[in-house]
Amino acid sequence: MSEPFEPKIVAFVCTYCTYAGADLAGTSRLKYAPNVRIVRLPCTGRISPMFILKALQKGADGVLVSGCHPGDCHFTHGNYHARRRWIVFRALLDFAGISPERVKYSWISAAEGGKFADLINSVTEDIRTLGPFDQYHQLIKESESPATL
Ligand code: FES
Repeated sequence: MSEPFEPKIVAFVCTYCTYAGADLAGTSRLKYAPNVRIVRLPCTGRISPMFILKALQKGADGVLVSGCHPGDCHFTHGNYHARRRWIVFRALLDFAGISPERVKYSWISAAEGGKFADLINSVTEDIRTLGPFDQYHQLIKESESPATL
């Protein structure tokens, strides 16, 4: 019998808000799904769409991007840049045939440990429902197989 699917999720978070919120969830001993690996960055404005694609290429089933609430970015408007980039990137994902539902975007402040735990649980459940992300690996396999006429 096979193991139930446990999604691998990479979370790119800004250090000032969401990372501090994750820290608060931990120090408050809130329980949440262990499926997320956090990558801490100075600001969501620093998160390139290439980071997200690379995470999916390297085996992530889903990606979370989270930072300061609008108006609270420590670099003034990095999160506004990230939000604009996300709107374009979402259309590109759709165009590439990758479900945009695999990438979630949220705002979590340093005081929202409970919200962080709830978000991780809901993202994990959503990605579990979508199933494993293996489109990239299927495309590589197809491109390497000999052409048939
Ligand atoms: Fe948190 Fe910019 S510092 S989003």
